[in-house]
Amino acid sequence: MSSSSPQATPVKKIPIHLQSSQSRLYIKRGQVVNHDSTIAADIYIEDGIIKYVGPSGEFVVPGGVRVIDAANRLILPGGIDPHTHMQLPFGGAVAVDDFYKGTKAAIAGGTTTIIDFVLPNKGQSLLEAYDQWRSWADPKVCCDYGLHVGVTWWSKSVRDEMRILCEERGVNSFKMFMAYKGLYQLEDSDLYEAFETCKELQALAQVHAENGSIIEKNTAKLLAAGVTGPEGHELSRSEEVEAEAVNRACIIAHQVNCPLYVVHIMSKSASIEIARARRRYKGVGIFAETLAATLGSYEAHHSCFRHAAAHILSPPLRPDPKTPEFVMKMLAKGHLQTTGSDNCTFNREHKELGKNNFTKIPNGVNGVEDRMSIVWEKGVEGRIISPQKFVAITSTNAAKIFNLYPRKGRIAVGSDADIVIWNPEATRVISAKTHYQACDFNIFEGMKVHGVPEVVIVRGKVCVENGQVRVAEGQGRFIETPINAPYVYNPLNGESNGDEVDDRENGDDKNGAIEQLEIEIPVIEPIAKYLAGPALSITSETPSTAQSICGRGARPDGQRNLQNSSFSISEELDNSATRSTIKVRNPPGGKSSGFW
Ligand code: URP
Ligand code: ZN
Ligand code: ZN
Repeated sequence: MSSSSPQATPVKKIPIHLQSSQSRLYIKRGQVVNHDSTIAADIYIEDGIIKYVGPSGEFVVPGGVRVIDAANRLILPGGIDPHTHMQLPFGGAVAVDDFYKGTKAAIAGGTTTIIDFVLPNKGQSLLEAYDQWRSWADPKVCCDYGLHVGVTWWSKSVRDEMRILCEERGVNSFKMFMAYKGLYQLEDSDLYEAFETCKELQALAQVHAENGSIIEKNTAKLLAAGVTGPEGHELSRSEEVEAEAVNRACIIAHQVNCPLYVVHIMSKSASIEIARARRRYKGVGIFAETLAATLGSYEAHHSCFRHAAAHILSPPLRPDPKTPEFVMKMLAKGHLQTTGSDNCTFNREHKELGKNNFTKIPNGVNGVEDRMSIVWEKGVEGRIISPQKFVAITSTNAAKIFNLYPRKGRIAVGSDADIVIWNPEATRVISAKTHYQACDFNIFEGMKVHGVPEVVIVRGKVCVENGQVRVAEGQGRFIETPINAPYVYNPLNGESNGDEVDDRENGDDKNGAIEQLEIEIPVIEPIAKYLAGPALSITSETPSTAQSICGRGARPDGQRNLQNSSFSISEELDNSATRSTIKVRNPPGGKSSGFW
């Protein structure tokens, strides 16, 4: 572990006033890890704010202050999850983690701030939707939260409301969709104008990058061919469908000189597009997020509808098992900046809405509780990133991008006392049986992870200790995210945002390293090629058969062969009511484990 001197943390005697020990905490003997330093330091907290960070002995600890011993522990800035969907109405269901249970689970896992998405219906006023989300969240949140707003349709009134949201409602980021055609998708010309508007407002444009028109065509073909089961989801939107949209979004952002944040990067190809665009459009400011799901899971061949459907989100988990490590390396190199959860949880009965048609399976997975542990396990424990990089990608970078830094994302005098006392040696096993989330499934089920948030402090209040989570509904607050984030907008004005330093530290690719990475990415055969193919064979299973072999299927050769595949569908398609789904034995990309 590296050690350097503290930055902007003055060492001085602090006058102490007599106050309740509830609002005053002293944490001693820990290693304070920020994204740019690791120091042995004590911390004093008063009224939810960090008042002292420095050597012990320099500070007179007042009587009656609660003292926490953090010997052999790391003290980290609380996690910031920049991507959640608590109680989102979506796909005919409502996400089961509401703002209470979802934020309680976040805290249990070491996340002390979330940024959720207001998603207006097509045609709905953005302000009305914003008010709706505030009325859901304010009385329930246990940690601080901010809001992004979705631009799900385009008009002059939308543009005007974006301005009001920025100027009067504490919003600085807008998400545009390149997928979910007919629901949220914007055409390129509308994207262009939405990006222009973001630029004018000095807000941050975000995109969900998948080519919705290709997905629509592929979906129609798959359904017509009888591919109705959950396997159709990834088949209809393979990684090049994601990568194309990432590239297009970056080009449109460059055309109007607008900074861009691409949410939920799910594939090797898409992360390469981000790396390329960041190199090509250095002055614009391209940022990208990946998910705990991407780093901790992949699209295995699941043996039953329940497991397969529970893993469905968009863009999908990829069948290439090398994806998690590859994407972690892209974070390590600084090509990607943040990790979110995209927490959007549905239970069995909701996922079963798509029993006979994969397009009707509500999209979304868990992650808000386990994100920090997954990133630690795969990143630090996996020897790919340092603890400081862990802090950067789970907290600091999101704080910088959404203009909350250094109030959030840093342990420093004046920052909010959102702090995690992290035991890097301790382990736990993830399970839906023990998680705090409301959902009945956990995509990381059974994973043993190092890194346990033993104490979690939210704005100076100890909310996790001794394995207990103690929170009060509504104790969190809405935090405004101001426009014109220096980290985002400085490069546009020819000023530094400090990224070059990170690039140097990471040995970033100035000499073709991106092209090297690309070699690892196989070409995926387009769906049309298979559907036009001659041989057709399909098996379907009754639900009972499928569920009796429930679980993640073995992958005989560790990876489906993405080059030499032969996809075939039987002429004897049986869509009778007793068959829940059509299972493709030989999906595009190669033979499955045989469960299908
Ligand atoms: O599948 C997902 N990601 N569900 C939530 C909505 C979104 O696109 O982020
Ligand atoms: Zn999305
Ligand atoms: Zn999302």
